[in-house]
Amino acid sequence: MPIIKSVHRADLPVPDRVALEHSKMLCNRIRETIQLNNGMISFARFMEMALYEPGLGYYSGGARKFGGAGDFVTAPEISFLFTQCLAGQCQQVLRELQQPSILELGPGSGLMACDLLQVLEQKNCLPEKYFMLELGADLRQRQQQLVEKKIPHLASRVFWLDHLPEQPFTGIILGNEVLDAMPVHRLIMKNGGFSELCVGFTGDEFRWVHRAPDEQINTQINILPGDITKDLSDGYVTEINLQIKPWLNSLTGVIARGVMLFVDYGYTRLEYYHPQRTDGTLLCHYRHHVHDDPFLYPGLQDITASVDFTFVAEAATDAGFKVRGYTTQAHFLIGNGLEELINRSHLTGVIDRAELGRQARILTMPGEMGERFKVMALAKDFNVPLAGFQSFDQRSRL
Ligand SMILES: C[S@@+](CC[C@H](N)C(=O)[O-])C[C@H]1O[C@@H](n2cnc3c(N)ncnc32)[C@H](O)[C@@H]1O
Repeated sequence: MPIIKSVHRADLPVPDRVALEHSKMLCNRIRETIQLNNGMISFARFMEMALYEPGLGYYSGGARKFGGAGDFVTAPEISFLFTQCLAGQCQQVLRELQQPSILELGPGSGLMACDLLQVLEQKNCLPEKYFMLELGADLRQRQQQLVEKKIPHLASRVFWLDHLPEQPFTGIILGNEVLDAMPVHRLIMKNGGFSELCVGFTGDEFRWVHRAPDEQINTQINILPGDITKDLSDGYVTEINLQIKPWLNSLTGVIARGVMLFVDYGYTRLEYYHPQRTDGTLLCHYRHHVHDDPFLYPGLQDITASVDFTFVAEAATDAGFKVRGYTTQAHFLIGNGLEELINRSHLTGVIDRAELGRQARILTMPGEMGERFKVMALAKDFNVPLAGFQSFDQRSRL
């Protein structure tokens, strides 16, 4: 999701009556939960309810989220070039494996899945099965409709899941902008130590409240090296993700052999907890406006936090994966033939080179998605060097 514009609350479009009612119902549900928990819940619980509360959360309710009419645009929606490059990387992995399948986590509109299967078909490299793990019933329905419309002849290969597969498979796991949608805890530096920033309310308004971190949070804080935390000033706010580690642990049982590719905005730990990043990484997306108020219209806006890729690499290694690559989105796409795809576009019938150039710039320019977005490859029993990480592998920076 590229940052299009930072705005003040008053500049944001006001939702219609139905949407406001929807948000109000969710707010009531969150307030009840806060009351039941002695007046405060962790920010992670707030974010979880705001995004995933059944029937009401942003991803579990019916609002249009992706694309021009929604709240944000992701790389596969910006350009087919993204998925073509990803297909190149997938092809390299699929060719090495026996009867491989693909599992996509959080498939969004389903566009990436359709495009990917189409390109892999052209490359004569289709996976046996394409699983989509979708938590939201409404999104799943939209994905099913898109598959029927765009690739009806491949629909029999596509399977929807609402939990991770119980039997391990050989192949690829893909997650584009999934890690950033996981609920995070928020911390604030006070008198040289971290407090947890929790959510309470007064009247109709949610508000921040502080409490001492519990043991689980302290364990994670203690992972941060002292030479990082010693420079953080009072009032410094940041996030930690307690879900990634158990989640990666559960993924080890899912993939017998193959590669997981995660694309997301994020940093190495040193960059993530940089003393100058005083307000953390939390961002909210509402009708193509980007701002930092997670209490605005709960259920009607996306809430995201950047990824600490050092932590992902450590947790993945503990879970039994090998980190096979870490690079910027720009280098990953270039490593998978972006320039050649643009140059050859006239041969494949895509002749609007200017438009393709514009899309490629959004995907690769440092000020757009090129450097803010990173790609990480985590492998199990797979040692072939991956094309997307050949030109600029940054694993040594993690
Ligand atoms: C920002 S959207 C990205 C959608 C899509 N991948 C794209 O690029 O357009 C994040 C998606 O991740 C999903 N998600 C979050 N946590 C997940 C989890 N633990 N397992 C599977 N999907 C998850 C959300 O439900 C949501 O659909």
